[in-house]
Amino acid sequence: MNFIDAVEAPLRNTGHIKLHGPEGFEGMRRAGKVAASCLDMLVAEVKAGVSTGHLDDLAREFLLDHDAIPATVYYRGYRHSLCTSLNHVVCHGIPNHDKLLKEGDILNIDVTAIVEGGWHGDTSRMYSVGETRRKASRLMDITYECLMRGVAAVKPGARTGDIGAAIQDYAERQRCSVVEAFCGHGLGQLFHDAPNILHFGKRGQGHELRPGMIFTIEPMINLGRKDVALLPDGWTAVTRDRSLTAQFEHSIGVTDDGCEIFTESPAGLHTPHTV
Ligand code: MF3
Ligand code: CO
Ligand code: CO
Repeated sequence: MNFIDAVEAPLRNTGHIKLHGPEGFEGMRRAGKVAASCLDMLVAEVKAGVSTGHLDDLAREFLLDHDAIPATVYYRGYRHSLCTSLNHVVCHGIPNHDKLLKEGDILNIDVTAIVEGGWHGDTSRMYSVGETRRKASRLMDITYECLMRGVAAVKPGARTGDIGAAIQDYAERQRCSVVEAFCGHGLGQLFHDAPNILHFGKRGQGHELRPGMIFTIEPMINLGRKDVALLPDGWTAVTRDRSLTAQFEHSIGVTDDGCEIFTESPAGLHTPHTV
């Protein structure tokens, strides 16, 4: 057992779904608030001519200034504080000082903050660079609606399949497709824990939801086909047909009568692409 194994052993993802108590919810509120505030801060910074690497620098400084650290630095060899996924990039786009935003781009920014106690707040939103095309803003609206329909399906006694079905039904009715290659995940003092939250599926199937479960919902919705490809950098996932794609993510906890969203925007900027 190496050092990391020794310190993380009690926290390893064993596939067992943890039920968190009030301290966990309190920690997740702190983590979610910092992560969401970081995305709020970035709203004014996303504009033509700015690099995704600069946004990453701003996010790292913001988290450190707010007693948090970026969960993605050194996570499985990743080096950055954000994932910045542009246009046809589905997720895990790598920030780069040479990659300048241009008018009409759509951008997902995904941040995960760890606060004292080890709690992780994981959230992402879509941003527009200046004026975007109608089909791009429509895709972003549909994707946000998918996230919120997934969230609305969460209550004790419901199943993970109810979340996926709510998302898939809506996306496909809008003639969009749901990415199946990536999913939401349990989190808490681990970044990626059980259960997996698929963004497609059938009502009544999957794990039963219980108060105390904490996980993300983070649908990736494409204008074209659902298939993705991985670029040679080993991280950047793109739509195989290079169609536009969008994603929103919240970290939530199941309560006695529904759920609590930990990553609500303190500034009310849930959909920065409309700002
Ligand atoms: N924040 C992403 C998620 O929603 C994970 C990013 S891991 C990284 O689960 F290594 F790519 F940064
Ligand atoms: Co996530
Ligand atoms: Co995320």
